[in-house]
Amino acid sequence: MSYNLLKGKKGIIFGALDERSIAWKTAERVHEEGGEFVLTNAPIAMRMGTINQLAEKTGSQIIPADATSVEDLENLVEKSMEILGGKLDFVLHSIGMSINVRKGRHYTDQKYDWTQKGTDVSAMSFHKVMQTLYKADAMNEWGSIVALTYMAAQRVFPDYNDMADNKAYLESIARSFGYFFGKDKKVRVNTISQSPTPTTAGSGVKGFDGFFSYADEMSPLGNATALECADYTITLFSDLTKMVTLQNLFHDGGFSNMGVSAKIMEAFMKE
Ligand SMILES: NC(=O)c1ccc[n+]([C@@H]2O[C@H](COP(=O)([O-])OP(=O)(O)OC[C@H]3O[C@@H](n4cnc5c(N)ncnc54)[C@H](O)[C@@H]3O)[C@@H](O)[C@H]2O)c1
Repeated sequence: MSYNLLKGKKGIIFGALDERSIAWKTAERVHEEGGEFVLTNAPIAMRMGTINQLAEKTGSQIIPADATSVEDLENLVEKSMEILGGKLDFVLHSIGMSINVRKGRHYTDQKYDWTQKGTDVSAMSFHKVMQTLYKADAMNEWGSIVALTYMAAQRVFPDYNDMADNKAYLESIARSFGYFFGKDKKVRVNTISQSPTPTTAGSGVKGFDGFFSYADEMSPLGNATALECADYTITLFSDLTKMVTLQNLFHDGGFSNMGVSAKIMEAFMKE
């Protein structure tokens, strides 16, 4: 169902790799709600993914940008404003990557070059995106910036590895930059803390199936899907949530406030 919530709004969507990506679903929903956007991803992802199909389907242009490169981001922001014909109303940061996770390197045995690269891609890139937007004065008043995160920023999920630290950093950047964006430009900045979701990044985490099922059985509503995450993001881009900022918003079927559920208890009851 669509409500025309984003009619006349323009933005940039980072991170659509394939149709499982949260950013992909969000792009489709933004399009259905009347929003226009530029799609972007790392140059290497262009070769691996199928972003062209999404661009065609949503009538969008693609501008490649490595989110760790300020030069690429400056080019992206400038060109996006040209293409869309003005300042932006929304930006989605849906980017994450850890080489330690990918290569199965244990948290207690990190290769720090990889750790640094993962931090740059997964967290500092959010600062770089916002600093570029801020300096170019690229956001309209009452615009909305959203990044995706995971609850391992607050609680221990051992196999989430160094991504847990990256997400804690990302969430802190949302608050710190969100202050300046709010005060100086009336732009809001939030993170959405999403349930485990079977995407390329998600299923790359060791034991993903285990903590997907665990969260699903623990949460009163079950896990939130990528499409449901897209729906939630739409509300944050819309004018219905103008006063929500500096928040880390759990979108997880209630998981974050659970202690134990009957289903989980069952597995441990002796008779
Ligand atoms: N899947 C989950 O279980 C889950 C749960 C909570 C939060 N998240 C977060 O959601 C976001 C999106 O991930 P997803 O699950 O849709 O997986 P995904 O693999 O589809 O998306 C990750 C994206 O990051 C992009 N990326 C990597 N390096 C980049 C770079 N240098 N520059 C620009 N883009 C780069 C990839 O190309 C890819 O499009 C991530 O921040 C992820 O941590 C995912």
